[in-house]
Amino acid sequence: MTEFPKNFLWGGATSSSQYEGAYNEGGRGLSHMDYIRRVEKGDKDKRFPINVTKEMFDDHKKHENEYNFPFRRGADFYHHYKEDIALLAGMGFKTFRMSIAWSRLFPTGLEEVPCEDGVQFYHNVFKECRKYNIEPLVTMIHYDIPVYLTETLNGWESPKMIDYFVHYTKFLIDEYKDEVKYWITFNEINMIMNSSYLGGGLFVECSDKPAETCIHQALHHQLIASALTVKYFHENTKGNLVGNMIARLQNYPYTCNSEDVLATQQQNQFNYFPTDIQVKGWYPTSILNYYRKKEIDIIWYPNYEEILREGTVDFAAISYYHTAVISAEDDKKEPIGAFIRNLENPYNKITDWGWGIDPTGLRITLNDMTDRYGLPIFIVENGLAARDQLTDDFKVHDDYRIVYIKAHLKAIKEAIGDGSDVMGYTSWGCIDLVSCGDAQMTKRYGYVYVDADDEGNGSYNRYPKDSFYWYKDVIATNGADI
Ligand code: BG6
Repeated sequence: MTEFPKNFLWGGATSSSQYEGAYNEGGRGLSHMDYIRRVEKGDKDKRFPINVTKEMFDDHKKHENEYNFPFRRGADFYHHYKEDIALLAGMGFKTFRMSIAWSRLFPTGLEEVPCEDGVQFYHNVFKECRKYNIEPLVTMIHYDIPVYLTETLNGWESPKMIDYFVHYTKFLIDEYKDEVKYWITFNEINMIMNSSYLGGGLFVECSDKPAETCIHQALHHQLIASALTVKYFHENTKGNLVGNMIARLQNYPYTCNSEDVLATQQQNQFNYFPTDIQVKGWYPTSILNYYRKKEIDIIWYPNYEEILREGTVDFAAISYYHTAVISAEDDKKEPIGAFIRNLENPYNKITDWGWGIDPTGLRITLNDMTDRYGLPIFIVENGLAARDQLTDDFKVHDDYRIVYIKAHLKAIKEAIGDGSDVMGYTSWGCIDLVSCGDAQMTKRYGYVYVDADDEGNGSYNRYPKDSFYWYKDVIATNGADI
């Protein structure tokens, strides 16, 4: 019978901008996430509010003291970290995924020397994790860049970002290598193709390049920055591991018509290509052909081929939430490369936010990635968003979350039985935090409820949900009953 590996890394995941809060304490500089405003999504642009345009950004700056900016508050981990890590330890976490806020260390991104308070804050967090034998899994950048770099360089469109980022990551490696074994360079590096502001801290309208070229140029700079970081990491640490990460979207053909199958293959190639580069060390020909056909002219970074070759990762990480359906028919077609897909899969139930629930898709993805990369795979995000209700006696009966996570863990176990090498599982937002895409608190993923609403009202007290006790049992038994 298949079992989870003995050293399986059970845990949960967070990110600095969604969780930490305290945006103006300890010398932290503002990040571009601090300028994403909470608004109800309109029909016109379903991906608003994360697709901030220059015009919106200027308006947000102008109304700095009036608008609701939830990422400035997060879930106030900054002041609750001891209590929160004790809660994670209470579930028996083996690992805790978190990210470092670049602007907490280097407020504008340009400083030579980091801010001492910020440096100490993360030492304190890691020390607290170590107290409970929890291995931190640290993402070097989970979207948030110092906003100064957005304003002055147009974010990752500029190659100068590479130097500033590598200065920052070299510091992280030197400073924390004895406290942190597991690292990820970029969160969901492919997300820049979905939202250039979120993933790249840039405005395509401010570039003199066509939008798609600007985005792929910025992605090229991120890939270079990641590879240079990985190379330094390997030269300067022993026994530590560094991975890459994409938002994995397993794509299915709408019909068995070979045109649909071909379009699906292209979309899967597109979804995988950043991992292809970060694992294998070169751009796949499919993407180079895509650039040629679409006249996307990349200004290649000097010696980029050698840099990519020398900066390949030790494991491949993914977030996995849902799958997508692809059609080649004109009236149903969406461009290859677009992340958000609108065709429904009648075989999947959907969440309250319309995301298809598809555990078997995770098994397919794990098996696929195992064949493609031959590296350990780390599922560093997965989970169910819901509008949880806190009862009068401070409980949350989230049996729906237990059903969701259990089904995905079963799929992982089956993939392990199929031969996949899975290192661990950190479900998203283990303690409730601000939703990234919706900039709201009421879209909750956690095992622990945080008493705060979309406007930042509430005590910010923490209350374990039913899923807390269930997950604790799963970890204690190493998933034996899954
Ligand atoms: C991932 C991101 O894409 O999805 C997280 O890495 C994000 O930051 C998560 O929170 C869930 O998305 P959302 O929009 O529901 O918060």
